[in-house]
Amino acid sequence: MTYVVTSNCQHCRFTDCVVVCPVDCFHGDTEMLYIDAEECIDCGACVPECPVEAIYPDTIVPDEETRWVKINAERALKLPVVSSLEEPLGSAEDRAAAFGFK
Ligand code: SF4
Ligand code: F3S
Repeated sequence: MTYVVTSNCQHCRFTDCVVVCPVDCFHGDTEMLYIDAEECIDCGACVPECPVEAIYPDTIVPDEETRWVKINAERALKLPVVSSLEEPLGSAEDRAAAFGFK
């Protein structure tokens, strides 16, 4: 099993998740983050940290988000680790509000 970052992270990239990850398995591009499926230890600590509820265990990813399981596994291997808090993207607050989280 692993945890997976899904579409709500796109254009948000709050990065609250990375601070609690004990194994630094988040990787990122300029748009969002991805979890390395080989490194994730399934602790679940990141889930409640995400303000837009983007992270799921791969066993219960919503049907419309299942493509992210493969995307996380592939993208994480090609991108640098993100392990410290960064500024959210400029669109993050508007996205969160549109999702009904703020
Ligand atoms: Fe890191 Fe735990 Fe989240 Fe996996 S479940 S990405 S190990 S915080
Ligand atoms: Fe993305 Fe949520 Fe982390 S928006 S960067 S999964 S805190």
